[in-house]
Amino acid sequence: MSSEFDIWMSYQKQTIESILDNYLPNIESTLNNLNEVMRYAVLGHGKRIRPLLVIASAEVGDADSDALKQRIAAVEFIHTYSLIHDDLPAMDNDDLRHGKPTCHKVYGEGLALLAGDTLQTLAFEVLTQDNNLPAHQNLETVKHLANASGFYGMAGGQALDLLNTNKDTSLNELTMMHQKKTGALIAASVHLGLLSCQDYQEEIAIYLKQFAEKIGLAFQIIDDILDYQSPTEILGKTAGKDEEYNKSTFVSLLGIEMAKQYAYRLADEAISIAEDYLPNSQHLIDIAHFILKRDF
Ligand code: IPE
Ligand code: IPE
Ligand code: MG
Ligand code: MG
Ligand code: MG
Repeated sequence: MSSEFDIWMSYQKQTIESILDNYLPNIESTLNNLNEVMRYAVLGHGKRIRPLLVIASAEVGDADSDALKQRIAAVEFIHTYSLIHDDLPAMDNDDLRHGKPTCHKVYGEGLALLAGDTLQTLAFEVLTQDNNLPAHQNLETVKHLANASGFYGMAGGQALDLLNTNKDTSLNELTMMHQKKTGALIAASVHLGLLSCQDYQEEIAIYLKQFAEKIGLAFQIIDDILDYQSPTEILGKTAGKDEEYNKSTFVSLLGIEMAKQYAYRLADEAISIAEDYLPNSQHLIDIAHFILKRDF
């Protein structure tokens, strides 16, 4: 039997799909086929964890529905751009994503690069559309997402990932890399949810940040574990790539059991913060459980 969370998640994923579809360039546009590449990368798959986090964190307050849609699309567009570039031969050289050939395998590296670039700019374009929130809150949203995606966040973390390949890495270095390459966008998703609320409260932001940083790190630790132990057919991406490419991961540093314990501890701490300090946070707590229990 499906739990309340399963039903909620499946309903929200359909809503997310149509929001993403609406913001993407129309398939009928014949200027070039970049629209087709973007749609191939974005639509029809993915756990949609980041948009789900936007929605769940917006439940702590009173969200503006236009602002919410814009933030949902923006985080998933940035995330998809990061996946397209992550899979390129110059980075992880992956042939399979979501059980299908990666973008560059189907459309070539040039168009894959451009689809990533275009999704990134589209994310920010969407955030400039009209909503009922004060301008300063929209500006803060753009600033926060840009910071989490760029030098101090995802892209900077991906650069650390390249540096840390074929090399021994300390726990501190690995933690910093994971916090940036994955944690930053997850934390931004949670913050952007709150930033879509008309009754934004600073003290809630502080606890949400603590919650998000813990689940963000746990998310990438679990990703490292799944790369090691989940089969390709379930993962939808080539299993065992990290070991094959001599990547620094929590599995290579701590081993499966300690890595798992660490992820569980982080998620437990996040859940306690939500239970103690965040109103109406059941879906955030459910997502934290889902991050641990998933097998893809
Ligand atoms: C994969 O992210 C890349 C990481 C940052 C670990 P997800 O596991 O969220 O990817 P999809 O969107 O669900 O495929
Ligand atoms: C990717 O980490 C993080 C990103 C910013 C995309 P991984 O390289 O481990 O992600 P997967 O396993 O390919 O999805
Ligand atoms: Mg990578
Ligand atoms: Mg990868
Ligand atoms: Mg991985």
